[in-house]
Amino acid sequence: MSNTHAARGIDTSRPHSARMYDFYLGGKDHFDIDKQAAETVAAAYPGIFVCARENRAFMHRATRVLAQEHGIRQWLDIGTGIPTEPNLHQVAQSVVPEARVVYADNDPLVLKYAERLMRSTPQGRTTYIEADVNNPEGLLSAPELAQILDLNRPVALSLNALMHFVTDAQDPYGIVGRLLDALPSGSALALSHCTPDFDPPTWQKVTDIYTGAGTPVQFRSQKDVARFFDGLDLLDPGVTVGHRWRPDLSDKDEPTQPLTDATVSLWTGVGIKP
Ligand SMILES: C[S@@+](CC[C@H](N)C(=O)[O-])C[C@H]1O[C@@H](n2cnc3c(N)ncnc32)[C@H](O)[C@@H]1O
Repeated sequence: MSNTHAARGIDTSRPHSARMYDFYLGGKDHFDIDKQAAETVAAAYPGIFVCARENRAFMHRATRVLAQEHGIRQWLDIGTGIPTEPNLHQVAQSVVPEARVVYADNDPLVLKYAERLMRSTPQGRTTYIEADVNNPEGLLSAPELAQILDLNRPVALSLNALMHFVTDAQDPYGIVGRLLDALPSGSALALSHCTPDFDPPTWQKVTDIYTGAGTPVQFRSQKDVARFFDGLDLLDPGVTVGHRWRPDLSDKDEPTQPLTDATVSLWTGVGIKP
């Protein structure tokens, strides 16, 4: 690890999920060690690039639907990742310029680029906090969050491609439940989550690669992903493979060729807190 990176708390001695994901999306904010690990994943599961792209496309559609049809004006996006345009606030503010977004991630490298997440409209507000989803109370009590979000008004909790980094031993359902408990009626959960359902042997290999590289993962079935929405009113079409969640044929992110469930391998859903 270089001294500069070490000083920033960035560990380049092992691959990191945020930087591998940046590679899948065609970004440039990763190191050789991340590229090598990402290429190993891609060799086992060539669909990873499509999965990452469809994950972003779901985030775009879910954000627009929540802004346009459910009156959401505030978002808490945890596991934000290295900025990739359009970022969530750009999508939300394209619909409602006054939208407010708090981003959170536990990777110091994301903090390095957080300035890109702060380019808000003049009417809206955004901020970034370095925080771990495994400590929801710490995250929710961050002073920066209170400056941006009014927790007495609906907030969309956005957990995209995050919860498969929280294993059952870390109490993922309890964590999401505690986050939602802090939000009022009318709030939302938008969540995406990789799944082994369509090709278990391939996803076992992906699990082994991440875990072997020091990042424990737990990819979940549709039933187990649906549990994150317990107590919420699930929007149609329910917990669905990413490209089937309200496809928008006018969306420039939509692929030109047909997608299969096995290629995408991502469960997605949006629920509203009654
Ligand atoms: C696959 S990326 C997803 C990025 C973005 N949400 C998206 O869907 O495009 C997962 C992100 O979750 C972050 N992450 C992993 N574990 C985390 C944790 N315990 N707390 C907060 N962020 C975490 C990683 O650093 C990474 O940026």
